[in-house]
Amino acid sequence: MKILSIRNLKKYFPIRSGVFLQVSGWVRALENVNMDISQGETIGIVGESGCGKSTLGRTMVKIYEPTVGSITYCDPSGEIHDVSRNIDRRVEPTFRKDVQMIFQNPFDSLDPRMTIRDTIREPLETHRLFASRKMMDERIAELLMKVGLYPEYAQRYPHEFSGGQRQRIAIARSISVNPRLLICDEPTSALDVSVQSQIINLLKDIQRDTNMSLIFISHNLDVVHHMSDRIMVMYLGNVVESAPATELFDHPAHPYTQALMSAIPSWNPKDRKLGQVKLEGEPPSPINPPTGCPFHPRCPHRLEICRRVKPEAAEVGEGHSSACHLHSV
Ligand SMILES: Nc1ncnc2c1ncn2[C@@H]1O[C@H](COP(=O)(O)OP(=O)(O)OP(=O)(O)O)[C@@H](O)[C@H]1O
Ligand SMILES: [Mg+2]
Repeated sequence: MKILSIRNLKKYFPIRSGVFLQVSGWVRALENVNMDISQGETIGIVGESGCGKSTLGRTMVKIYEPTVGSITYCDPSGEIHDVSRNIDRRVEPTFRKDVQMIFQNPFDSLDPRMTIRDTIREPLETHRLFASRKMMDERIAELLMKVGLYPEYAQRYPHEFSGGQRQRIAIARSISVNPRLLICDEPTSALDVSVQSQIINLLKDIQRDTNMSLIFISHNLDVVHHMSDRIMVMYLGNVVESAPATELFDHPAHPYTQALMSAIPSWNPKDRKLGQVKLEGEPPSPINPPTGCPFHPRCPHRLEICRRVKPEAAEVGEGHSSACHLHSV
């Protein structure tokens, strides 16, 4: 069962200038995104800074409204709802409970004035999941233990905890309402390497116990490789390649994916005839994206057509798509 389906999603942010703050241009944060999220699946989303990963996550949880395109949501009873724009009031509470997100920086995402108990209790109260305060407190203690913290921590405040512990608290809060989809936006990038893997293992354990779907956003292909069933590679607001994780690592098709892979020191391209694709310079600005293929200015294999025509995503293997003109020459 698909929890969310995303079709032709675009998100443009207006750039305002002048005394009257007229719209003078657009940041094209998402150009064209298609994706399906099935129950229990882990999807990794990778790409360089500014390629639109957070915008995609935030659009999925409806912090942002799509500029163009659709998002459909399948509720637990199997009924499909369009949640692209205004969500039907009868569906909204279930949607808000089902789709949760945790953010990059655990130092910003918790309210410093609230105890841990109140922080975790808030969503439980909003969604009226428990009849009594006592039951809620029991659930909070259980959640704290589940994320590897002591139940006694409930009465403390966020400043008393380390970054890794705060991220555990944020995880406890987001899973408190039993979401069916958890979107993790670089949840470990502000943490030490040793703490990073603990948090990743924690998320995988929770997923195994609950069968929730996980979307894991990272700029690091190495991190998502180990935990994802499927990986989507983004470049300048576009999904340039999408494939099952092992397939992507065995047969990366898009020159951009190949470049990301050759940048991983631990990855050994011994038997794989990739050649070294070097990524030079910075990605172009999403305010003024290149014509044709968004990657062509940095692509070592670019052809004449790449400058003019934007390549469509094409099947290059089972469940494997890539948007590159090289596949059709
Ligand atoms: N609220 C906003 N208003 C205007 N522009 C925005 C907004 N949010 C993001 N952008 C722009 O959209 C583009 C995509 O940003 P986004 O944060 O989604 O990238 P990202 O892939 O998450 O990057 P990072 O790896 O640095 O977190 C960037 O050019 C960014 O400046
Ligand atoms: Mg981001």
